[in-house]
Order: sequence, then C-alpha cells, then structure tokens
Amino acid sequence: GKSVYILAVETSCDETSVAVVKDGREVLVNLVASQIETHKAFGGVVPEVASRQHVECITLLMEQAIAESGIAPEQLTAIAVTEGPGLVGALLVGIMAAKALAFSLDKPLIGTHHIAGHIYANQLIGEIQYPAIALVVSGGHTEIVRMESEGRFEVVGQTRDDAVGEAYDKVARSLGFPYPGGPHVDKAAQAANSAVPLPRVWLEEGSYDFSLSGLKSAVLNLVNQSRMKGEEIDAGGIARGFQESVVEVLVGKAVRAMRQFGAKQLLLCGGVAANGGLRSELTARCEAEGITLSIPPMKYCTDNAAMIGAAAYIKWMHGEVSDLYIKGEPGMSL
Ligand code: KG4
Ligand code: ZN
Repeated sequence: GKSVYILAVETSCDETSVAVVKDGREVLVNLVASQIETHKAFGGVVPEVASRQHVECITLLMEQAIAESGIAPEQLTAIAVTEGPGLVGALLVGIMAAKALAFSLDKPLIGTHHIAGHIYANQLIGEIQYPAIALVVSGGHTEIVRMESEGRFEVVGQTRDDAVGEAYDKVARSLGFPYPGGPHVDKAAQAANSAVPLPRVWLEEGSYDFSLSGLKSAVLNLVNQSRMKGEEIDAGGIARGFQESVVEVLVGKAVRAMRQFGAKQLLLCGGVAANGGLRSELTARCEAEGITLSIPPMKYCTDNAAMIGAAAYIKWMHGEVSDLYIKGEPGMSL
C-alpha cells in the first residue's frame, strides 16, 4: 500500500522535538532542542520558562524537520502531537503549532498520549510481541503498563508520589551532584564497593504501585545526620544503597507482572532506561524468565517526537484521529 508519513511534535516538558516517521517505523528525521542547560540554573524544570523556549524554537524546528525529511509537505499523511500528560503551557505550544500545520495542509491531526509514545519507541527497533509489559521510568513517570494487544493499555501500577527519575535527581542534589543527577548517582553506585543499607518499599501484597518518597527521605536524613556530626558523607555507599533498593523493587514488580499476565516481552522505556543497574538486573531476570527484553536506543528513550510518530501511526492504523479542537490534557490517562 501507500506509505504513511507522520510529522510528529512533542513539547510536553523541557524538550522541543519534531520528527517525520515513515510507516511508524522508519525515522526520517528527529530533531530535539533540549532545555537542560536553561533549567540547570534552577535545579529543575521551570514550567513558564519551558513554555517560552518551546515558543521560540517550534516553528523553526518544524520547518527544518520538513526540509530534512526529504518529503514534500503535501506528501505528509497526518500531523501528530502530544496531547498529554505534561505541563499545560508546554503542551499548548506544540498543540497550537500542530493544529496550524494540519489546518494549512488540510491533513488529519492525531492527538497522542506521551506514555504511549514512550512505549511505542520500542516499535522503532522491532515488532512488539503481545502480550507485553511496559516498564515506564522517567523524570515524570513510573508505571507498569499491561498490553494485551496493539493499542491497548492498562496501567496496573504507578508511583504514589515521586517518579523514579525525580527521586534520583533529588538524591543526587543532596549528594552534591549537578542537575539532572540521575546519571551521576548511577555512576557513583556502580563505582562503589559497598552499599549503605536502605529500606525496600513493596507496599501492600500484590500491589504493582510504587512509593519512592520514603526512600528519598531516608537518604536525605542520612546525609543530614552526617553533616550535623561533621562526618564525611559516603556518597558512593549511599548511591549504591539507593540504586539497589530502587532496582530491586522495580524489577521485582515488573517480573511479577510478566508472570501474572503471561507477557512475551518486556518493554523498557523513559530516560531512566539509561540506568546501568536497572539494565543489567532486567537483562538477567528476563533471560531467566525466557522473556525478550526490548530497550530502545537512548535517543528514543528520552523525550523525543519520533516516539510520538510511532504511537500516532498505531492510532492511524486503527482509524483514530482527533479534531482541531483538542487542548492540552495535563492529567491525560492512557
Ligand atoms: O525521560 P526523560 O528524559 O525525561 C522525562 O520525560 O522525565 O528522563 C529524565 C530523567 C531524569 O530524572 C534523569 O536524572 C534520569 O531520567 N536519568 C537517570 C539516568 N539517566 C537519566 N536516572 C538514573 N540513572 C541514569 N543513568
Ligand atoms: Zn517523557
């Protein structure tokens, strides 16, 4: 049949990104303008600043993406955009730009869920095998999602407080690492030769939910106690203890979900997929369970528009398009 070309826009947080994806699989172009340097000064993402930066670069990025895709604008099949969840002001910038393009080219608009995007990033590297379990771990999300078949999502567990990346960043900050601190804690944890003992938070029996704020507070208390006593902080030991606790619970629950739902594949996604401890533990456990583990390359794990193009393609194939009245849905559910 005819090829499907989707131009996708992602502005839900601090990355402005535009991509053109062919047939939901082949990334013709994926441009990402990161705001990390801007937000570093504040130690985290400032919503108002994020919106302004999206406004400043979205139009140029769209023009550049079309130019670099090698596709004439009329050849585009549809325009996709992240509808939610995310920062409302940031989402609106991408949505307005996508609507304007869809309207001027007279192409359908496909409002897409950000987490569906993270999950379908796995479709950029191969065919997903169903039933699948997705472990979504990022700065804003921590979820276990069950997928019986294509395009069907059931969130079976999620964090009740901090997201994993968020907890990493807060722990990193208390240990004196720069923002975003997740990668620094990971490195320190892997280099340390002993772990400071920290609690595992499993919640009620059978629950797939997570709670990370208690663990984070335990770390902050340890750091404060050392400070008050004038002792040196064992940053490596704390990082390792924290990482072991997080990884054990994340992997433990993901493996239990795979067993309970008879998953053929585990899809890892989100920025924390870069974590060395998580990767090696998941690799070992999936192998033992006889389940294939799919991890997209890092450029498709952190926020990007190619993943939105991949998820929108699935919606397109199922005949799901939006109207031009969509507005940002900060709390959108899968
Ligand atoms: O998916 P992402 O790029 O942004 C969101 O959509 O949230 O994830 C960024 C998060 C940050 O919190 C960052 O510290 C964390 O992922 N992160 C890591 C590692 N690399 C990035 N956390 C732990 N270990 C890593 N190696
Ligand atoms: Zn994300």
